[in-house]
Amino acid sequence: MKTKVFKNSDKFDQMVDIILSDGLVAFPTETVYGLGANGLNPKAVNKIFAAKGRPNDNPLILHVHDKASFLKLTPTRTSLLHKILDEILPAPLTLIVQKSEEVPNEVTAGLKTVAIRIPQNKTALNFLKACGVPIAAPSANTSGKPSPTKAEHVLNDLDGKIDAIIDGGDCNVGVESTILDISSDIPTILRLGGMPLESIKEFCPNVIVANSAIKGDVNDDTSKTPKAPGMKYRHYAPQAPLYIINRNFENIVIENIGKYSKIGVLYDNSVNINFLENHFNNHNNDVFLYNLGITPEEISHNLFNALREMDKQNVDVIFVPYINGEGILSTIYNRLYKASNKPKIVKDATEYNLELSGEIIGNLEYRAVEDSIDIIDINIFKNYRGMGFGKLLLNDFLSDFQAYKVFLEVRESNIIAINLYKKFDFKQISTRKNYYSNPTEDAIIMKRSEKL
Ligand code: TXA
Ligand code: MG
Repeated sequence: MKTKVFKNSDKFDQMVDIILSDGLVAFPTETVYGLGANGLNPKAVNKIFAAKGRPNDNPLILHVHDKASFLKLTPTRTSLLHKILDEILPAPLTLIVQKSEEVPNEVTAGLKTVAIRIPQNKTALNFLKACGVPIAAPSANTSGKPSPTKAEHVLNDLDGKIDAIIDGGDCNVGVESTILDISSDIPTILRLGGMPLESIKEFCPNVIVANSAIKGDVNDDTSKTPKAPGMKYRHYAPQAPLYIINRNFENIVIENIGKYSKIGVLYDNSVNINFLENHFNNHNNDVFLYNLGITPEEISHNLFNALREMDKQNVDVIFVPYINGEGILSTIYNRLYKASNKPKIVKDATEYNLELSGEIIGNLEYRAVEDSIDIIDINIFKNYRGMGFGKLLLNDFLSDFQAYKVFLEVRESNIIAINLYKKFDFKQISTRKNYYSNPTEDAIIMKRSEKL
């Protein structure tokens, strides 16, 4: 199949023809490019899954251009829905509502709810209006790859597999829509996205965020809240392993010169780029630096392009500073976290190892005493300190063991560890002479007594 590229225009006749004859047309939205098909036709919808290599238990979003078309797809008529339709949409926001009869099961993967969105982008709205049917559209990338924010990204993934693409330039927002489930009593964010939590709170003060939306791993989610099935799949992944470094960024990058044949660095304002550049003067072929921008909006706009550029440059490792905070920054962190090589906890009888890309980077030894557990040592190896892995190890350990009666011993001078344990509800109960692994120092005994 030859993929036609249409330039952005007001006339959508040919694109509409393709849609109405069950073909696939990729189109720009303000978030990312979507891969569109007639959302009322199961045959057309199935082609989307085939082209993307997408598991078909992962439901799609229906895109419409106005309120009337939205309401045809759902019997839901709550005041919250009316408020959102009247005052908030179009926006980078997808709503989960009860589905009406006419929505095919292929779109919702058998669920009784459906995801619907009215995008903000002018080209998208005009195209949807011209089609006159709801358009089912996931992001127009091969499953698992970063979502496309330029027509070129779509072609890289899907050229020859889809009928056409409308080239509307760069997507403004650059990350996918926020998914808000209003199908049950408590409005719940299932995916962080282009519309920040703070903005949603303005019209929906009792909104909560599902655990799976933050961490993004289905296994991490112990809550009963519903989740977007797509959140369990690996996403946004560049070819090379990506590490989020939250301290000593420049030094860690420099320490890794020579360990890899080409290092990719994504940087924002927090990085001392002059220092890095000076250092890299003699290593020009070993490094690829990509400026994510200064404002949160610039960073989200550039993020997926940055990940794809790393692939093009064939880097064999990627370092990115820890970027997080309010508004769109939390979405950026979520995407980077999902793209990253997450540390994994490996269990054995008395020891937990923390493994990262096949390497053991630290461990936690413990000893159980009756109904309480004494943690005797948490040890993150030198090169990996300061990246938050200790916290992860402790968190997983405590939750796996449902360990609430825990004593631990920590060196008096280890302020970082003491503060970390305080965050996990440990309180100092006494001091002890002679820390076990270094008798010249004293130890603090901390205890966590309440079941969390
Ligand atoms: O910004 C966006 O939302 C883009 C553009 C093209 O509109 N689309 C997009 O679609 O990101 P996709 O398919 O890549 O992600 C849709 C997410 C998936 O995680 C899916 O599991 C979830 O929406 N979803 C769809 N229907 C759902 C439902 N009924 N209940 C819960 N989650 C649902
Ligand atoms: Mg996607």
